[in-house]
Amino acid sequence: MQALDLLLERRSIANLVEPAPEGKALENIIKAGLRAPDHGNLTPWRFVIAQGEGLRKLADILVHAAEVNQSPDAVIEKLKKAPFRAPMVITVIAKVKEHEKVPALEQYLSAGCAAQAMQMAAVAQSFQGFWRSGEWMFHQEVHQAFGLEGEDQIVGFLYLGTPGCSAMKVPERNIGDYVSYL
Ligand SMILES: Cc1cc2nc3c(=O)[nH]c(=O)nc-3n(C[C@H](O)[C@H](O)[C@H](O)COP(=O)(O)O)c2cc1C
Repeated sequence: MQALDLLLERRSIANLVEPAPEGKALENIIKAGLRAPDHGNLTPWRFVIAQGEGLRKLADILVHAAEVNQSPDAVIEKLKKAPFRAPMVITVIAKVKEHEKVPALEQYLSAGCAAQAMQMAAVAQSFQGFWRSGEWMFHQEVHQAFGLEGEDQIVGFLYLGTPGCSAMKVPERNIGDYVSYL
């Protein structure tokens, strides 16, 4: 796939089935994440890959947080199943380092770019991805389970797999609605 086509035509697909990327394809996805723009060369990213038993562990982490919150049963039942919507989930973490010129916000943005780059690398290799978030990625118990400290933050759960359906059409957007010139 040409780079510009990928940029112009990328869509997310939530319907993700086996197989998940593995071997060289997975390595390329991670390496793409490691090419995210990075002010100060802080490498403020950690990627935690879950598949198979890992998906159950991720569900357990989310369910535990919901139980601590005394969430309704319906929420807990949903969380038990949530990670199994794809054969692989990569938890994308901004590991924030103190730096006089690079505030935490820039490091969160860098981790967000890493998530996008990994999704792009998945699509470029005929896999697909869907970036998810939700209140649980801000929860203290979830942070503890992933070893987060200080200003570290989970910026998303990148669901990855093989597309289970075709992508929706790219929405028409009028450039003029979003762009102005000084
Ligand atoms: C930081 C972030 C978090 C997101 N979290 C969710 C989410 O929890 N649930 C969801 O349905 N979509 C979420 N999305 C949006 C989808 O990943 C996707 O971008 C959206 O459905 C539009 O599809 P497209 O990427 O094909 O334009 C999130 C996007 C971003 C950037």
